[in-house]
Amino acid sequence: MTPAGPLLEARALHKAYGPTPALDGADFTLHAGEVVAVMGPSGSGKSTLLHCLAGIIRPDSGTVRYGTHTLTELGDAQRSALRRTDFGFVFQFGQLVPELTCLENVALPLRLNGTKRKEAERRARDWLEQLEVDGIATRQPGEVSGGQGQRVAVARALAAEPRVIFADEPTGALDSLNGERVMGLLTDAARNTDAAVVLVTHEVRVAAYADREVVVRDGIARETAGAA
Ligand SMILES: Nc1ncnc2c1ncn2[C@@H]1O[C@H](COP(=O)(O)OP(=O)(O)OP(=O)(O)O)[C@@H](O)[C@H]1O
Ligand SMILES: [Mg+2]
Repeated sequence: MTPAGPLLEARALHKAYGPTPALDGADFTLHAGEVVAVMGPSGSGKSTLLHCLAGIIRPDSGTVRYGTHTLTELGDAQRSALRRTDFGFVFQFGQLVPELTCLENVALPLRLNGTKRKEAERRARDWLEQLEVDGIATRQPGEVSGGQGQRVAVARALAAEPRVIFADEPTGALDSLNGERVMGLLTDAARNTDAAVVLVTHEVRVAAYADREVVVRDGIARETAGAA
């Protein structure tokens, strides 16, 4: 059953860190299966917007709806449960668990959702193959290159087949060739599993992988003029 309206919708988000305003009435809409790039200058509120959309932080005011849920009305435990089942995350430096192997890192979201170890590791191995890093499955994140680590992070974000993948500068630590390759793999995998992607990036070349662009300036998000 597909809900008729948007999958994720934020209205009039305000958020300040003490005296510093970060969001000043930001709106945002995401439809199922859509890849949206969020661009804008440093400090404009992109990460804060992404964290509010994903229910990581709660805005001071405004609403975030996800499917039938109003995220901004849910408690911390309910929001983190929803994040585990429905959302995947990739951040700039991967943020893999250093003590676990790459395979165990990818299996982790599945394990947290109650998948048995053997099945979780089988599926994790498939994802590592798709991201072309199955050769480093038994290594720890400290023993792989930046690009390999980022691919493992992408595999982990996709492993539990989330409805939405939130990516904040997912290629920021990579050279442009590796960055483009990882973006291609991320967007292909998202499209294959019908997941939507919210992608924060500074790079126009990375944004080119998106269906649509939103620009954040001074805490306000706008569709770019002329975007398809
Ligand atoms: N934890 C925090 N404490 C205080 N101020 C913060 C905090 N996080 C963000 N800010 C401030 O909120 C504003 C928006 O920050 P945000 O991280 O959302 O920007 P951004 O667009 O993601 O920037 P960048 O492109 O550099 O990552 C900035 O002025 C920033 O300094
Ligand atoms: Mg940021």
